[in-house]
Formats: sequence, structure tokens, C-alpha cells
Amino acid sequence: MHAGPLGSFISSLILLGSGSQEAPAAEAPGAVTTAPSTNTAQPSTETVITVPIQSYSFSASPLPSQAAVAGVSPFTDPREPPPVGSSVVPDFGQAWAGAYQEAKNKVAGFTIDEKVSVGTGVGWMGGRCVGNTPPIGENGTKFPGLCLEDSPLGIRFADFVTAFPTGVNTAATFNRKLIRRRGLFMGREHVGKGVNVALGPMMNIGRVAQGGRNWEGFGADPFLAGEAAYETILGMQEGGVQACAKHLINNEQEHFRTQESSDVDDRTQHEIYAHPFLRSIMAGVASIMCSYNLINGTYACENDKIMNDIIKREFGFQGYVMSDWGATHSTISVATGLDMTMPGDITFGSGTTYFGPTLTAYVQNNTIAEARLDDMATRIIAGWYFLHQDAGNYPTTNFDAFNPANEDTNEHVDVQEDHYKVVREIGAASTVLLKNTNGALPLKKPRSIVLVGSDAGPGKVGPNEFADQGGLDGILAMGWGSGTANFTYLVSPLEAIQRRARDDRTSVSWILDDFDTDRAGNMAIGRSAALVFISSDSGEDYITVDGNEGDRKNLTAWHSGDDLVLAIAAQNNNTIVVVHSVGPLIVEPWIDHPNVSAVLWAGVPGQEAGNSIMDVLYGAWNPSGRLPYTIAKQPSDYSAQLVLGGQPTDILSIPYTEGLNVDYRHFDSFNITPRFEFGFGLSYTNFTYSKLHIAKVGHQASTDAALEKSWAAGNATPIGEGSSTALWLHRPLYNVTFEVKNTGPVWGGDVPQLYLHMPASAGEPPSLLKGFTNVEVLPQEQKKVSITLSRYDLSFWDTVAQGWRRPNGTIGVSIGTSSRDVRLSGNITIT
Ligand SMILES: *[C@@H]1O[C@H](CO)[C@@H](O)[C@H](O)[C@H]1NC(C)=O
Ligand SMILES: *[C@@H]1O[C@H](CO)[C@@H](O)[C@H](O)[C@H]1NC(C)=O
Ligand SMILES: *[C@@H]1O[C@H](CO)[C@@H](O)[C@H](O)[C@H]1NC(C)=O
Ligand SMILES: *[C@@H]1O[C@H](CO)[C@@H](O)[C@H](O)[C@H]1NC(C)=O
Ligand SMILES: *[C@@H]1O[C@H](CO)[C@@H](O)[C@H](O)[C@H]1NC(C)=O
Ligand SMILES: *[C@@H]1O[C@H](CO)[C@@H](O)[C@H](O)[C@H]1NC(C)=O
Ligand SMILES: *[C@@H]1O[C@H](CO)[C@@H](O)[C@H](O)[C@H]1NC(C)=O
Ligand SMILES: *[C@@H]1O[C@H](CO)[C@@H](O)[C@H](O)[C@H]1NC(C)=O
Ligand SMILES: *[C@@H]1O[C@H](CO)[C@@H](O)[C@H](O)[C@H]1NC(C)=O
Ligand SMILES: *[C@@H]1O[C@H](CO)[C@@H](O)[C@H](O)[C@H]1NC(C)=O
Ligand SMILES: *[C@@H]1O[C@H](CO)[C@@H](O)[C@H](O)[C@H]1NC(C)=O
Repeated sequence: MHAGPLGSFISSLILLGSGSQEAPAAEAPGAVTTAPSTNTAQPSTETVITVPIQSYSFSASPLPSQAAVAGVSPFTDPREPPPVGSSVVPDFGQAWAGAYQEAKNKVAGFTIDEKVSVGTGVGWMGGRCVGNTPPIGENGTKFPGLCLEDSPLGIRFADFVTAFPTGVNTAATFNRKLIRRRGLFMGREHVGKGVNVALGPMMNIGRVAQGGRNWEGFGADPFLAGEAAYETILGMQEGGVQACAKHLINNEQEHFRTQESSDVDDRTQHEIYAHPFLRSIMAGVASIMCSYNLINGTYACENDKIMNDIIKREFGFQGYVMSDWGATHSTISVATGLDMTMPGDITFGSGTTYFGPTLTAYVQNNTIAEARLDDMATRIIAGWYFLHQDAGNYPTTNFDAFNPANEDTNEHVDVQEDHYKVVREIGAASTVLLKNTNGALPLKKPRSIVLVGSDAGPGKVGPNEFADQGGLDGILAMGWGSGTANFTYLVSPLEAIQRRARDDRTSVSWILDDFDTDRAGNMAIGRSAALVFISSDSGEDYITVDGNEGDRKNLTAWHSGDDLVLAIAAQNNNTIVVVHSVGPLIVEPWIDHPNVSAVLWAGVPGQEAGNSIMDVLYGAWNPSGRLPYTIAKQPSDYSAQLVLGGQPTDILSIPYTEGLNVDYRHFDSFNITPRFEFGFGLSYTNFTYSKLHIAKVGHQASTDAALEKSWAAGNATPIGEGSSTALWLHRPLYNVTFEVKNTGPVWGGDVPQLYLHMPASAGEPPSLLKGFTNVEVLPQEQKKVSITLSRYDLSFWDTVAQGWRRPNGTIGVSIGTSSRDVRLSGNITIT
């Protein structure tokens, strides 16, 4: 086990033991010092193991020294990233320089054909992984070639792997430590299977609530998605695998995804959609995947402005850009920034390629400079050196994605370790408590409960009933498409809650039929609580489920879920609704029903789904999840809708006319009241905030003093040509501190959020998320927390000057529990 900062953090958690979060509301507050134990049902074996619920501990992470903050970052190796919560900006420049030197030496010994081969995939299903580059030199003596494998939540097409929570759930934790740990464990699993490049994380924004792949990403706010991408990549690459930031860019709907042009203005591109890619590059991401769609009429994978200008020049990206599968449209794309074509053939199985011999010919007749070919091969091989994958002990690929039954090519290596613990924890920590009346939750040894709905139980054939999870039967724990993994096992709520019922001596009944509402209603009569499970699924366009061609065709619960809730609520005044959904749903039909006493938003939480929801229902976990998107009162309240229709040869135009007004920014700008705003989430306890203090960060002499001064004077910053990202722009400038007090009866974790309110001249929406943190507080305890703001955070993109610029005038700062619940306010005036 690699003993990085996170490794020691995890051991300290295990040692902490009783330092676990819980909220035994039925007991005296003092009882929080006793560790609860929770029974984990693992259907794969008959063994019942007792797992103390672990929780994040925010004090475990050492803060950087002032010298480190002001000066050069000591964190220069992607295998040893800065600790979570540190405001140190890592500088991987040296590591890249070293990797480039080694890569250049290697490429110097390659023929033109060999250099071309480095970036040419072997073709669809031409190797053991979902993407493969060929070995170079006889038997790979010059370079062994690369294995590229899906997905952003685990290892697709492999056995004995962990099915981690989805991206959107990970974001809903608003918890950097959990996000990092998930990344680390995914990275280690990929390495264990001999994968070189893991095809994630996915960081498209969720511009359209119905977008089919939104659940793979990190929600509808660029700052949140950026932090989640950053931590995920730091974790994955600490684990040793090359991460891949995708999909570059504006791939925001599935319908006609290869035939739509997302037309996006420069400012919106920089401030909303490109931001998570910038954070990925700051995390040292080794690769980026260009998307299927066009941007302003030019395919993403041949878009010079996006790949060369923004990503490589402006953001200083040192790694390589690969195409999405089949998204390469020309050979000349190499000149416009594409480095690798995947899976290699023009269309799956065509046997033709835009790279290979065609690229060689383009280089030989100087249409593409050989220097660019060298750069292409160097970037790819540098990624391999950057992650130390040249080390002799790097595992060779030991599974066969497309031939799982071939015993000669599958070694069935079990890479799961005890990663189920973080899956369970993220499942609980991402669950958002939306409503809780009459103390309905947490459950207190109820005498009788009924579980209602197919989402409460297992599917009829489980847990991989549908290839790539392209179907819905039983508990929804991930969406469908290439962003999936097979479940090694999947715990349903029914299984987990039954274990608990045994301890509590609760009488449990269930009805897993979604449509027999009469019978379900009758079964709910007289029960202490009726738990209704409803769901909504989506995925990638190559699978259609119940008329949903990837994107969701509506924002209502599947399987008549609203009717089911109403039928139960008519009969039971303690109706608790649990929602497993890939994104927002309209909950108006029942949210204000007086008998709907509680609502838990559980998202798509991965293989421990049942245990996670049980932990929250029974108070072993005090809810701390926050909505990573807005839940509207009606679909038309959102600022962007799917663009449908189109003839087979059309290119659909999708103008991003809403500009910066994505998700809550739109609701705020146009004064539309949402049902639940972005960032919202209740707890079993209450927190109050006080003593806001905003101070300039103590500064030592900086080598970038002239640039800093120029920025303060109101000039847009020049962007460093071809060099690394302007790190000085991202170092902390202000330190916002305040106190958080737990005024309720039980221990809990809170997520204070920082929003900026720019002066009108900046032309920004009213509120912008620019910071969040996590704090765990005992009843009556008060803790000081801090959130830093950089010059970049305080800037907007000046399209004329092509730089980041501070606004004129006073910037409002608010600390709140959501995007609309402000608790403390202050101002920053830059001088
Ligand atoms: C390549 O592998 C073949 C078959 O194992 C072997 O005969 C040959 O000597 C190897 N060549 C090199 C350069 O290792
Ligand atoms: C797309 O067009 C808009 C409007 O002209 C422009 O601001 C933006 O920079 C263009 N983006 C790309 C990638 O060409
Ligand atoms: C270079 O070679 C390519 C591939 O054969 C060909 O399509 C292209 O027209 C050539 N360009 C020039 C300038 O000869
Ligand atoms: C994954 O599940 C599918 C069924 O959905 C099955 O055909 C395939 O063999 C499984 N793959 C592995 C590696 O177990
Ligand atoms: C919405 O779509 C789901 C899934 O296809 C379907 O079950 C449901 O009936 C639809 N709702 C409405 C109101 O059409
Ligand atoms: C609420 O539930 C009770 C049964 O507990 C039922 O009598 C009542 O009619 C329900 N209220 C509504 C508004 O459906
Ligand atoms: C709910 O109904 C039960 C009887 O079914 C009753 O005892 C209880 O007071 C009711 N609770 C509320 C909040 O109305
Ligand atoms: C939190 O505070 C609100 C408003 O003061 C109150 O209604 C609620 O009961 C409190 N909740 C808890 C768990 O203390
Ligand atoms: C911000 O303030 C907190 C609390 O005083 C302190 O611990 C932290 O080091 C400060 N951060 C920076 C970057 O100065
Ligand atoms: C800020 O003020 C300066 C000087 O008055 C002016 O030139 C500049 O355009 C202003 N910038 C914005 C964004 O309002
Ligand atoms: C912040 O500044 C505005 C004027 O720009 C003022 O109205 C407001 O009272 C200030 N708020 C605080 C908390 O100082």
C-alpha cells in the first residue's frame, strides 16, 4: 500500500474507531461517544461482518505552512499529492519536465511509423481493453503500448472490482476527503488490473436536467465539478493510473451527440464549461478526451481553438488529447491538437484509420510537421513516465474486456480490497435530506414498516441483468452506458433494512410491484412507517430504455412512482420517500402532502446502496449531503432544454443562449423560486454560523509580484504561452474564517458554502459558488473553519483582453447553508 498522506489518513480513521459520525436521536446526546456498529449484508457470501461506520475527520489533514503557501509548492510528484484541504497549489512542472526528457529520449529512437503508432489505437475490440495502443518495437521492446479502460466509477467489463458511487453522488457529498479517497481506490483497482489509462473522471456540467450522462459527472456548478475533478484526479493518479478528463467539451446531451454543434460564447466557455478541465490540468491529469459534438460548427476533436489554444496553450496542458470512441474526423486533426485516435478505426471494425499510414503520408509530404508528430508521441509517452508506469513491476493487463469467459486471458484478479467501506460511506454522505417533519427520521426502532416499490429490492436477475446496466429492475445504483461497471454484488435496501429489523425486532413487509397501488396502499395501513422507493434512470445514447434514448424523456419518476407515493400517503401519515435518481425530478405531486413526513434524495450510490440508505434512515449517518443541482417546480423553469429532432444528415444547432445562467444562476437571475435550491440539504441537527472574518493572506515575497500587482490594478492577466498554468493566480489571497456551532441534539457534519456576489459591472449572475468546506461538530460545540479565495476566484473572464480580471468595486461574500440560505455576509474590496 502506498503510504501517502491519504494512506495515513485512512489508518488514522481506522484507529479512531469510535470517532465516527452518528446521530442516535432516540438516545441522550452523550451517547454519541459510543460507536454504533452496523451489520453489513454482503449477498456474495453468507458472512455477516460488523463494520463500525467510519467518517471523515477534518482535523486529520495538516495545513500547509505559510512558507509553502507563499512560495513554491513542495508537491511536485503526482504520486504524492498535497493533502486534502490544503490550499497549496501543486506544481507538477518538474515532474512533467522529467517525464518529457525521458519521453523525448525514447521517441528519438522511433521511426516515423512508430511515432504514428504511439497515437493510433489498434481498432475496436482489437485488444484486451476498451482501447489499446500497439506495442512498439519487436515484442514491445521500445514501448509496451497502453491499455485504456472505462469507466469513471470503476473498471468496466471486469470481474472482482468495486462498483463505486457515481460522479453525481460523489459531488453531492461536497466532501473533498471522500472524493479523493474514491479516486485513490479507483486508481489502485485500475492499476491492479493492469490498466494504464482510466477513462474518467467525466466533468460535463449538467446544463440540461434531462442530459443522459449527467450522473457520470459532478453536478451543475462549475466550481463544485472543478473541485470534484481535481480531487478525483489527484486520488486516481496517486494510485498510479493515468486519469482522463472528459468530454472536452460541451457534450451536454445525448440526442444527436455526434451531430450537434454547441455554440458557446468565449466567456461562458471559460467560466462554466472549461473550468473543471482547468482544475484537472492543475491536478496533473495525464490525458483528456475530446467529445463527439461540434463546438461552433467544428468537431471537438478537430477544434484548434479548444485543444491547442485553450487547453494546451492557455491552460498549459502537458499531457495528450485522445478522441472519444469514433470521434476523430480527419487526419489534419493532429495539427489542430489531437494526439491519439480511439479506438483507432474510423468506425468500429472498419479497418480504416485517420492515423496510421495516412498520418505517415501527411507527415512525409509535410502537411503535418514531423515536429508535431514528435510532440504527439512525446506527450503520450510522457504521461506514462509521469505516472512511473515504466517501472518494471507495473501489472500487465490481466483481464479481457470483450472475452470475459476466456480463461486464457482472464486471471480474475480481485482488486476490491475493502473499498466497499468508502462506497458505503459516500452513499450515505451523498444522501440529501430534503424534508423531515414530526421527527420522522431517523427511525427509532419502529414497530412495523413496509417497503414499497421495485427500487427497494433486488432485480429479478441480478445484479448485472442488463448489459452496461441498460435497463431498470430493482434498486437503481448506477445509470447505463459505457460509464458503468459490472456489480460484483449489490446490496438492496430490502436486504440491508431486514438485517436492521432483526436487531430492532421490527416487523417488515414489502411490496415490490410499482403498479398495484391498491394493494400497496392497503399494506401501508397501520404501519409505523411506510418507505416508498422511487427512481429515474438515464444513460448513453446507444441503449434506449423505455423510450429514453439516453437522455430522459421527462423529469417524472419512472414506473408511475408519483402515483405510488400518493397511494401510500393516502393511507399512512408517516410516508417516507426515498428517491434513487440520476438527476432532478419534479416532486410537486406529493412534496407538500402532509403525510409525506420525510424525503431522502439518494441519487445513484453504487454497490452498497442498501447499506448506505439504511445508515441514513436509522441515524448511523447524520445526513450531510447537499444537492449538486436545483430541483425545480416544473421542467420549463430550467434555463436549458434538450434540442430534439433532426434529419439523419443534419447538424443540430444548440446555441447556449443562457450563457452564464446555468442551473441556480438562472433561478437567481430571473427570480424563479425552485422547489429545492442548489446546495440545499437538511441534517438531524442544526448549525449556526458566527464571527465572519475576511483577511488578506499573509504574503511573502513572490516571484510573480509584478503580475499580482497588475491584477490588483485591474488588468486582465496575460496567459503564459505554452508554459504551465499561471499558478500565482490560484494561490490564496483572502482567508475567510467563521465559527460553526452545533445547536441541536446530535453530532453532525455540515457543509458551509461560500458564494460571491460580483458588482453589477462584472455582468455575473447574482451568486457564484466559490468555496465550501466540511466541519463535524458535537452538540453545543463550536469550531472555527476557513475557506480561501484566490485571485482567480475573484475574477471574471475578459473576452477582449483574453485574461482573468478582477471586477471594479465591492465584491459581496456570503456564507450559507445553500445557494439561497445566507447566514453571514461580508465584503471584499480589492486594493
Ligand atoms: C519476440 O518474441 C518471440 C516469441 O516469443 C521471440 O522468438 C523473439 O526472440 C522475441 N524478440 C525479442 C527482440 O525479444
Ligand atoms: C464560438 O463562438 C463564440 C461567438 O463568436 C466565441 O465567443 C467563441 O470563442 C467561439 N468558440 C470556439 C471554441 O470557437
Ligand atoms: C499529403 O498526403 C495526403 C495523404 O496521402 C494527401 O491526402 C494530401 O493531399 C497530401 N498533401 C499534399 C500537399 O501533397
Ligand atoms: C458483466 O455482465 C454481463 C451481463 O450484463 C455479462 O455478460 C458479462 O460476462 C459480465 N462481465 C464480467 C467480466 O463478469
Ligand atoms: C416518464 O418516463 C418514464 C420512463 O420512461 C415513464 O415510466 C413515465 O411514465 C413517464 N412519465 C410521464 C408522465 O410520461
Ligand atoms: C393521512 O394518513 C391518514 C392515515 O394515517 C389518513 O387517514 C389521512 O386521510 C391521510 N391524509 C391525507 C391528506 O391523505
Ligand atoms: C398518525 O397516525 C397515527 C395512527 O395511525 C396516530 O396515532 C398519529 O397521531 C398520527 N400522527 C400524526 C402526526 O398525525
Ligand atoms: C432546527 O431549527 C429549527 C428552527 O429553529 C427547528 O424548527 C428545528 O426543530 C431544529 N431542528 C433540530 C434537529 O434541532
Ligand atoms: C486561514 O485561517 C485559518 C484560521 O485562522 C488558518 O488556520 C489558516 O492557516 C489560514 N489559511 C491561510 C491560507 O492563511
Ligand atoms: C473598471 O474601471 C476602469 C477605470 O475606471 C475601466 O477602465 C474599466 O472598464 C472598468 N471595468 C469594468 C469591468 O467595469
Ligand atoms: C457590503 O457593501 C455594500 C455596498 O457595496 C453595503 O451595502 C453592505 O452593507 C456591505 N455589507 C457588509 C456586511 O459590510
